[in-house]
Amino acid sequence: MSDTHTPTLDNLSHETRAFAPSAEFVANAIGKPEQYEAANADRLGYWAETARKVLTWDTDFTEVLDWSGAPVAKWFADGKVNAAYNALDRHVENGLGDRVAIHFEGEPGDTRSYTYSQLTTAVKQAANAFESLGVAKGDRVAVYLPMIPEAVITMLACARIGAIHSVVFGGFSADALRSRVDDAEAKLVVTADGTWRRGKPSALKPAVDEALAAPGHTVQNVLVVKRNGQDVTWNEKLDKWWSETVDSASTEHTAVGHESEHPLFVLYTSGTTGKPKGIIHTTGGYLVQAAATHRDTFDLHPETDVFWCTADIGWVTGHTYVTYAPLVNGATQVMYEGTPDSPHQGRWWEIVEKYGVTILYTAPTAIRTFMKWGRQIPDSYDLSSLRLLGSVGEPINPEAWMWYREVIGSNNGPNGEKKEHPTPIVDTWWQTETGAHMIAPLPGVTATKPGSAQTPVPGITVDVVDEMGVSVGNGEGGFLVIRDPWPAMLRGIWGDMDRYKETYWSRFEGMYFAGDGAKKDEDGDIWLLGRVDDVMNVSGHRLSTTEIESSLVAHPYVAEAAVVGAKDETTGEAVVAFVILQIEPAEGEDVVATLRAHVGKDIGPIAKPRHILVVPELPKTRSGKIMRRLLKDVAEGREVGDSTTLADSTVMTQIADSMRK
Ligand code: WTA
Repeated sequence: MSDTHTPTLDNLSHETRAFAPSAEFVANAIGKPEQYEAANADRLGYWAETARKVLTWDTDFTEVLDWSGAPVAKWFADGKVNAAYNALDRHVENGLGDRVAIHFEGEPGDTRSYTYSQLTTAVKQAANAFESLGVAKGDRVAVYLPMIPEAVITMLACARIGAIHSVVFGGFSADALRSRVDDAEAKLVVTADGTWRRGKPSALKPAVDEALAAPGHTVQNVLVVKRNGQDVTWNEKLDKWWSETVDSASTEHTAVGHESEHPLFVLYTSGTTGKPKGIIHTTGGYLVQAAATHRDTFDLHPETDVFWCTADIGWVTGHTYVTYAPLVNGATQVMYEGTPDSPHQGRWWEIVEKYGVTILYTAPTAIRTFMKWGRQIPDSYDLSSLRLLGSVGEPINPEAWMWYREVIGSNNGPNGEKKEHPTPIVDTWWQTETGAHMIAPLPGVTATKPGSAQTPVPGITVDVVDEMGVSVGNGEGGFLVIRDPWPAMLRGIWGDMDRYKETYWSRFEGMYFAGDGAKKDEDGDIWLLGRVDDVMNVSGHRLSTTEIESSLVAHPYVAEAAVVGAKDETTGEAVVAFVILQIEPAEGEDVVATLRAHVGKDIGPIAKPRHILVVPELPKTRSGKIMRRLLKDVAEGREVGDSTTLADSTVMTQIADSMRK
């Protein structure tokens, strides 16, 4: 396992503001202080009660948690439950069939709304179609789709029949898609001809064609949604149109309960080594914590709220807080295909105004981008419908938090009117591995602090520990750990249980190591300080330094490479690569452009280094480990720190010299 570095405590301690919820908000709040008390008094009892409250079980469970196979947990193991039934059919049976489940806003401005009845029918048809293509319980389905309703329909159809979906972010390359398809041995791929990006059609299917061009894969069918109508190359053996296969399928389909521990999905995420990890989530526990946190953290009133989570379904936030939790809770949500700046920089606020969005959940990188564009843009829209704002994906700096509160959360109409009480802001810390919120305020209970996720959600036990695994005191920093198993926890890494144990359970005895640095303030509230391992966070997307390094050294020009995440005002971190070349590039060739394109093709455009610096040497310790810390200093334009442990002490001067050239 790779070494971790000690998190640096920045000057967050100066931040002492706290904003208590208004009396009005408290009066109608869903989350109550008693939940903490109940969970503290009887944690498993609390989860059992929550499980029965938020889900309809086909077969009730008798045992809440089985931890005998630690670190692989079993939650509600003898219970049976169907995720799609809980997200769809039961709402229709309860008379909510006409409630809008999804308001879809396409990038070109086309719209579609699905009521719960319509969405249920669509999912039943997709489930029948998938079965007719030979997909059965336990089979894997790769999903490579844009943010369109068919993405949610596909995921729920898989869940309905017990097939395991593996969503691959549409921004990943053909190579990345192929490695995920191979690792999970997917039988079916669901994709689209393309999507819309900034007013233009953008292709998706060619990446699938390329991914499956070489033999040796397990895919039997590729189902293609027609989204932008662009020409596609057709593979008669594999390809089928969604419109012909799904739309003609029967609208009758009975959901049966699956075992609580039946895998619901695999989602690949970057770790500290080159190979992405297929994080496994199972059904019962995941859905319970997803639904409960969505209800409590966002103060969800499903009858009246309009929820909008801006995450793509290619990431865990899109899984939990687009596909599963809002629908299980019977909420109405907005789904948007495009980017925030197309056709203009007020696009999001136009959408909030149009649908009367009440709860907005997004990432700090988006907030910082809006800050840069200027408040006059949101100020010219009516955002008075908003009553709660959420943040996820990376630490939110206090400035961005305050801007979010003052500009978005106080907007009471386009005339510069202010809300009497700005909306609460909930900063939510969690991971692909944790499945659902772990640290987040309860908006009707917690006095929220700008920049802190603060408190574990009821029923979750987190801590900050030192190098030795000893709990630190208030005012001190260390490593974030989770002390007890939680319902939505990952159940392993697909095909590599040793790596699961090694990555998460070997750093501290009996505790889950999250990979994040954190500190406790004087009140014991938790402040997240970023990753302490070789994982970068670029615009809230996880990228592995090692994965990008492997890609670079795979290029014939490159002898060695080191990648660091350098602080960036907007994206949080930016990828900076240092490379040693092994061949002289051709006269006039732009090596940097060639290498950037190579990484883009290998992993995906999001992984392209912002800067690539060609250097004569890399700083290494005597044992040959690259000292990324020193390179980070260079990348961030700081004076280089202690380099006394370098094998060759002149290396940093050589690098500085080469950069001056
Ligand atoms: C970071 C995204 C600070 C953290 C849900 C974590 C955060 C990684 C926050 C997981 C937050 C996420 N404050 N840091 N509120 N939320 N992170 O798997 O470093 O894509 O380990 O899950 O994002 O990223 P992932």
